[in-house]
Amino acid sequence: MIKFQEVTKIFPTNSPNGYPTTALDNISFEIKPKEFVSIVGRSGAGKTTLLRLLMAEEKPTRGQVFIDGLDIHKIKPGKLPAVRRRIGAVFQDYKLLPSKTAYENVAYVMEVIGADDLEIARDVPEVIEIVGLTERTNNFPVELSGGEKQRLSIARALIHRPEVILADEPTGNLDPYNTSDIIRLLLKIHELGTTVVLSTHNKEIINKLGKRVITLENGKIIRDEEEGRFIL
Ligand SMILES: Nc1ncnc2c1ncn2[C@@H]1O[C@H](COP(=O)(O)OP(=O)(O)O)[C@@H](O)[C@H]1O
Ligand SMILES: [Mg+2]
Repeated sequence: MIKFQEVTKIFPTNSPNGYPTTALDNISFEIKPKEFVSIVGRSGAGKTTLLRLLMAEEKPTRGQVFIDGLDIHKIKPGKLPAVRRRIGAVFQDYKLLPSKTAYENVAYVMEVIGADDLEIARDVPEVIEIVGLTERTNNFPVELSGGEKQRLSIARALIHRPEVILADEPTGNLDPYNTSDIIRLLLKIHELGTTVVLSTHNKEIINKLGKRVITLENGKIIRDEEEGRFIL
């Protein structure tokens, strides 16, 4: 369902030295529906760039990115929101709205696309329950632990029932206990039928997962293995 075909991303000026940076260097791979794939590599290897191309937040310099055969960088801008709703995104820094409760943070993304109150009242408690946050429904982000904040951001990512969840270093700010907790949640979501693409530089997680691992180094895929290990 996801296909990168000879994708190169060059940032024209990398601020410190003014030289162009090749963030992704001619990479090709495919991800099948309902796969769980980890993208690993050191800081600067190109993980975030890869995920941003998949969310159509950056354009490739060369090559194509397909979702179900659709080149997402060639479609009309008006069709992009519909494509984006098929993808849920989760980030290291949660990106929650501080002045809204857990419930309102999730409800907000439904309001933005014009969902009515009935739909919101039906769907929000459901995703909050999936991530195990029912008791925290009316708490503000500042009242939640790091693990709970990340659960909430996963609930928000699930609200449009996406086919794919992209998680960019979702455990980067978490202690080992909360890290395992979030990984277990992503595995549960995967078992419920969602494709998961997880970027991380946490070796322990990857080596316990026993799932497909794509390893990036300097913008190139240096390994792509089923039941891969993290061996940089
Ligand atoms: N917006 C940008 N402008 C210039 N250079 C960038 C930009 N985004 C990323 N880069 C560069 O691209 C390379 C890959 O970055 P990134 O995809 O963020 O790596 P990772 O997520 O694996 O740490 C790095 O050298 C980074 O400095
Ligand atoms: Mg990154």
